[in-house]
Formats: sequence, structure tokens, C-alpha cells
Amino acid sequence: METMTFASVLKNPIYNKRDVLYSLEPPTGFLHRTGQKNELIMELAPILMGSAVNCVFVYGVPGTGKTGLLLDLMKELEQEAVKKKIDLKTVYINCSENRTETVILTGILNQINPEREYPKMGWTRTKALSEFNKVLNKEGMQVLLVLDEVDYVLKEAGDDILYRLSRINNDVKSKISTLVISNDVRVGDYIKPRTQSAFGRVKVIFSPYTSDELFDILRERAKVAFKPGVITDAVIKKVAEIEAQRNGDARKAMELMDSCAKICMGKKRSKITLDLVEEADKSLERDQALAMITTLTQHQKLIYVSILKNEEKVMAGSDIYRIYCEECESYNIKPLSERRVRSFLIELTEMGLIDSEVGWLATAKKKTRKIVLNLDSAVRNKAIKLIRDSI
Ligand SMILES: Nc1ncnc2c1ncn2[C@@H]1O[C@H](COP(=O)(O)OP(=O)(O)OP(=O)(O)O)[C@@H](O)[C@H]1O
Ligand SMILES: [Mg+2]
Repeated sequence: METMTFASVLKNPIYNKRDVLYSLEPPTGFLHRTGQKNELIMELAPILMGSAVNCVFVYGVPGTGKTGLLLDLMKELEQEAVKKKIDLKTVYINCSENRTETVILTGILNQINPEREYPKMGWTRTKALSEFNKVLNKEGMQVLLVLDEVDYVLKEAGDDILYRLSRINNDVKSKISTLVISNDVRVGDYIKPRTQSAFGRVKVIFSPYTSDELFDILRERAKVAFKPGVITDAVIKKVAEIEAQRNGDARKAMELMDSCAKICMGKKRSKITLDLVEEADKSLERDQALAMITTLTQHQKLIYVSILKNEEKVMAGSDIYRIYCEECESYNIKPLSERRVRSFLIELTEMGLIDSEVGWLATAKKKTRKIVLNLDSAVRNKAIKLIRDSI
């Protein structure tokens, strides 16, 4: 095997802009989603006419563009509201990271009322609710709440939050519309009949992508991600076929395309050829850091995700403990002692998931465990998602 150097990798003749393969925003908008987009526009348009929309339900398996398209639509709706001088606030909450009613409510408050900082920890549900009803009691204010990955909060904390939101317009002056997104087919099982009667009437379904649809999606990204002539339509077609046969997941399809490019670079070739696809598919499953994550215990995962989400280059153990406690609160899990967490940090280091050593940390002005994470942003995002899904 030939040795690689950073310089040789940087001289790569393949990538133009790799990050685009992992961005939520497609370079030329969402393809093959006109039907869903139109349905959603029809459902949400009443907001611009001054009425609240009651509980739209968006459903679809992973990687079908739910989050991305909805965030796009929220932006469009806001722009339209500005033009029409409507006081509209849109709020996006990912429930997989916010699994209790209280953290969801304070999360919403933080977005609606950014001048004030609402604490992630320490508030009771009663306190959060009374503040919620106070802030959302403004005549003429419209609010659109989008609760993504809602199955997590339903499984963890029950459907109280949905029930409350379905009735909220009777109690406050602002007009509150709710849209929930789920990727669990059995989500209905977690919603009690009393809530179901208000929720889930309007369903917008994001179906898995077919091979032809994935082909178009991949080709748009490939144009930006790779240098001209690096990847052929035949390769893209094969990747699309493989992923369409699995789950029709656009995210996975782009990962496979990226894996082809990586293998190609490793072989010092300048063109991605058809024969690399199978090898790339196998190597995807062997990603070491990701394989290791699945073997972690729940608290190790919580600590690792705290590190993954920290943007600092060198982190202090004590900072990680603080973030870990907040994460625990979000997931509705009781935190362990700082001493236990310190020993987990040593274990994560031994497993090779992080680099750490005890020493003087100038930014913290003290001796502490210094933690460094060496992961590219694509693997980092993948790891965060993997952990969120498995806690
Ligand atoms: N129709 C599309 N056109 C272009 N890109 C798409 C399309 N659908 C999905 N993607 C891309 O696939 C990736 C996954 O999309 P997104 O996160 O919106 O899926 P999701 O349905 O929310 O998945 P999950 O259920 O796992 O949260 C993103 O990078 C997104 O830009
Ligand atoms: Mg999503």
C-alpha cells in the first residue's frame, strides 16, 4: 500500500465542494417533492389569512426530505408574512433532542422571545406552562410550531404536549398552528384517542424515493460536489438503484456516493468507476467510530454527544460535564456524578473516540482534562444522529 500525505490528499483531482453532499439545503431546491410542497402550502396558507392551522401531520421514512423541505417552507412563509406585515413567529424544535414537555416549552419560548434566556434546566412544567401562556397571549401574533421527530417525545413523555397544543387556541390570544413530523409508522399507537381526534386529520406523506428520483437528486449534488468529469451517470445510476432497493433514503444515497469518491482517492484515481461502488458500499459499514458508538452505554453516549456538539477545539472536562447535565435534562435522564463522568472520559479516550489528557488549559485557567475531537463534520453529524436515534 502506498503511503498518503496530507499534501497528496489535498491535491485531489476529485472534489470541488464535498460539504454539499451533507448539506440540508439542496443546491437547486428539493426535487420530486412538488406534490408534498403544494399540499403543505395549501395547508399552511390560512396562517397568512389570519387563522390558525390545526395540527398538520407529516410522515415519511428517514432521508425523504421532511426536515429540509419544512425548514425551506418556514422561510418562505416568513418572507410572505413580512410582505403582508403579519406578526408571524416560526419555531422549529427537534424532539429527539428535547424529550420532555418542559424542555420543549422552554425551547419554544427561547425562539419566540430571544431577548430573554429561558433556562434549559430547573424549571417545573407548571412554571414553563404559565410563562408559555403569558408570552403567547398577544393579540395579532401568529405562531407556527414545527415539532420534528415527534415520536421521541411521545414515547418518552406521552402525548400531553400534543393534546395541550391542540387545545391551546382556546386559552391564549395568539393564534398557534402546529405541524408535527414523524418517521415512525406506528406513531399513532402513541397518541391517545382524545388527542387523535384533533391531530392527524391532515397527513402529508413523504414516500421513499424511487431509483429515478434518487438519480436526479444525486446528479444535482454531484455537479457541485465533484470536479467536472469525475463521476459518470452510470455510477450515479448504480448508487441510486442500490439505495432505492433499500429504503429510498436520499441521505444514505449521498453517503454512498461520497464513499465511492473516498475509495477512488485512496486508489489515487481521478475518475469514479462502476467497479468502485460495491467496495464503497462495504466500506461504509465499516466506519470505525460509528461502529463503536453503537456499543456505548446510554451515559457514555450522552457524554460523547456532549463532546460532539461542543464547537471548541480543546474542551475542558468540567465544561463537558455541564453540557452533559443539560443533555440529560433534554433526554429526561438522571445525570451521574462528575466523578463517574470523568472515568467515562478516560474510557472514551481508551476506545479512541476522543483524544484527551490532563493538563493546564489556558482558556479555562486551570488544570483539567483537555479533550480534543478529530472528526470531519460529515462523520460528526452522522454520529450525532446515530446517538440521538439510539438513546
Ligand atoms: N427531494 C430532494 N431533493 C434534494 N435533496 C434531498 C431531497 N430529499 C432529501 N434530500 C437531502 O437528503 C438529506 C436528508 O434530508 P432530510 O434531513 O430533510 O430528511 P428527513 O426526511 O428529515 O430524514 P429523517 O427522518 O432521518 O430526519 C438532506 O441532505 C436533504 O437535502
Ligand atoms: Mg428529519
